[in-house]
Amino acid sequence: MELKKIGVVGCGLMGRGIAEVSAKTGYDVVVSEINKELLDKGMAAINQSLSRAVAKGKMTDVEKTTAMGKIKGTLDMKDFLDCDLVVEAAVENLELKKKIFADLDRVCKPGAILSTNTSCLSVIDMAAVTKRQDKVLGCHFFNPVPVMKLLELVRTISTGKETLDTASEWGKSLGKTVIVAPDRPGFIVNRILLPYMIEAIKMYECGVAKREEIDVGIQLGLNHPMGPLTLTDMVGLDTTLFILDAIFAETKDPTFTAPVLLRKMVAAGHYGRKSGKGFYDYK
Ligand code: 3HC
Repeated sequence: MELKKIGVVGCGLMGRGIAEVSAKTGYDVVVSEINKELLDKGMAAINQSLSRAVAKGKMTDVEKTTAMGKIKGTLDMKDFLDCDLVVEAAVENLELKKKIFADLDRVCKPGAILSTNTSCLSVIDMAAVTKRQDKVLGCHFFNPVPVMKLLELVRTISTGKETLDTASEWGKSLGKTVIVAPDRPGFIVNRILLPYMIEAIKMYECGVAKREEIDVGIQLGLNHPMGPLTLTDMVGLDTTLFILDAIFAETKDPTFTAPVLLRKMVAAGHYGRKSGKGFYDYK
């Protein structure tokens, strides 16, 4: 199946990244938000990201204008009518996502693929509210989307082969390397990433090592772009806690028990980079 038009639900950090890379690689894009203020903010962020690419000589002014011209912002779900593939990138709330999937199923043309960018929630639960379970899968992108080279596709027990093949070709056309994960809590990457983050937070909490020692140790000793505490600040402590609680709720596996310090920091509003304070200060 040939894809021409991509829909993205949500123009937050992940949605706008998915919209940007799709437009840059030649797709027509429709991206939605719940109000004009959020939509304007998301579109401005895409414009800024593309301007940065121009300033760095990665694309020309003309290419930027072409890419921006391919993105249509909307507040109306009906604009997804003629999309070939839609990625839902709304906030991590299963009930909200199920409602979005029911709406998309009603609005989108029969052959369209519906996907979710969820980092941890059960994809089959979203597929089950549609009449096209075989056309539903997870498309888990990584932050920052324009930079990260991976797309983790999540196959449910109902995802059809053609759906998976089409999404895989799409991912490759965006310049991503594609892996296929089962619809199990944490999929592949977060199932490994979260216990690693937990261990770093617990070591810091117990005073085993200073935050800088943990981060520099991993960064230079394992050649990671950033250490685990800096990464948790970037992902967001609230998001990290949400993922842990979601995986724990589904598996009851004590490996995914959130550290007490993480819970307390989130309660205090220390969400990491986005709030100006996490394991480090960003003000
Ligand atoms: N958008 C577009 N480009 C960006 C960007 C953004 N938001 N942030 C950085 N870049 C680009 C820069 O322009 C630069 O490009 P260049 O090399 O061509 O000049 C390049 O990325 C490097 O950026 P910087 O020099 O500004 O900074 P760093 O070298 O420190 O890199 C980083 C920043 C790319 C964020 C790097 O530190 C990194 O890769 N960190 C790890 C990120 C990671 O692990 N992400 C996954 C998080 S987990 C996840 O998303 C799953 C979820 O479910 C939890």
